[in-house]
Amino acid sequence: MEREKFQREHGIIARSLEMQEIVDVIRQVAPTDITVLITGESGVGKEVIARAIHAASKRSKKQLVTVNCGAIPEGLIESELFGHEKGSFTSAVEMRKGYFEIADGSTLLLDEIGEMPLATQVKLLRVLENGEFARVGSSITRKTDVRVIAATNKDLQYEVQHKRFRPDLYFRLRSVNITIPPLRERREDIPLLVEYFVKEFSTKNNITFEGFTDDATELLMEYHWPGNVRELKNAIESMLVLENGRRMNADDVRKYLKEYQPPVFERNLPVHVNKTVEQAERELIYRALVDLKGSILELRDLLMQQSKAVPAHTEHPQLPNANGNGILTLDEMERRMIVGALERHKGNRRLAARDLNISERTLYRKIKEFGIHE
Ligand SMILES: Nc1ncnc2c1ncn2[C@@H]1O[C@H](COP(=O)(O)OP(=O)(O)OP(=O)(O)O)[C@@H](O)[C@H]1O
Ligand SMILES: [Mg+2]
Repeated sequence: MEREKFQREHGIIARSLEMQEIVDVIRQVAPTDITVLITGESGVGKEVIARAIHAASKRSKKQLVTVNCGAIPEGLIESELFGHEKGSFTSAVEMRKGYFEIADGSTLLLDEIGEMPLATQVKLLRVLENGEFARVGSSITRKTDVRVIAATNKDLQYEVQHKRFRPDLYFRLRSVNITIPPLRERREDIPLLVEYFVKEFSTKNNITFEGFTDDATELLMEYHWPGNVRELKNAIESMLVLENGRRMNADDVRKYLKEYQPPVFERNLPVHVNKTVEQAERELIYRALVDLKGSILELRDLLMQQSKAVPAHTEHPQLPNANGNGILTLDEMERRMIVGALERHKGNRRLAARDLNISERTLYRKIKEFGIHE
């Protein structure tokens, strides 16, 4: 109950076990000053979680300060974070406070921390450790009281291995690490999010939504959502507005999915997906069988035509002139074709030769060669 109230207060829409656990962790850590690292693919809700931590903390009276480390040019990042003194570099015409000073008494969200240059990482570690920093161009050590939340969609351990991220900073940040799973790994959250966004955008745009067909709902559940919750949110908004609230089936919905791909045959898909995968698999096998049946029928017709051309008495069950594998030799096939042509034309050699596309002379020679009795 407590958890539900917390989620409602902070706009966290989720019911999967994974997200419930995350909500429990953030409820626990929010009131403290502990540094939190939030990881997860783009659009999973890292900022939503960071905002909830700040809002549920004793710092909530002040505004959360957000810095996107990936958006600041490398040469400017230190001055942005720690400020600079007048004249410390060419464009530093005035003293400027950095985000660590601005966020004094509040929370600083360092978004895309994986993009922070190594040299800046040393200074960040220092401020995390004892709250000390110095403005660029100043030797005066200053103090700040900032709670840091870092977020990234990079695998920081991998970055550490490739020497792009300092291990000491990584260990410092990682003390509380919240990893938000991608939406496709917590599909129970999809219907709840769909319902929530439908409500949000139908109210906002004054649209009455007629709903999704069953196959459309199934598609929303099965899609792999590479852009996670952000993609779902954007898709719902576009669908509602562009279709003006009319009822939508799977084909209508598909147009709004970034990278629609038919379901893959994965063994570890959730149960409700397996059902459809099984259906798809069955359909494929069925189609293959139909194709196979078609080929068999064609083959049978071909054989029937051939056997019509061959007189019954020549069809010896033991196939006397067959080789060891039971396959007719070329000679035996030729002999049977000649016999068949002669029978069809009641012994008329001229007509039989024409049928076989050989000269009468050749036919005569072959009749003698094979010892065919007319
Ligand atoms: N659990 C959730 N409940 C409600 N809205 C959510 C939830 N998760 C994500 N959202 C919404 O999805 C969008 C993307 O979320 P957010 O910006 O937090 O993602 P992110 O992980 O920070 O992505 P990025 O790595 O691209 O910065 C936002 O509009 C957010 O409101
Ligand atoms: Mg973000």
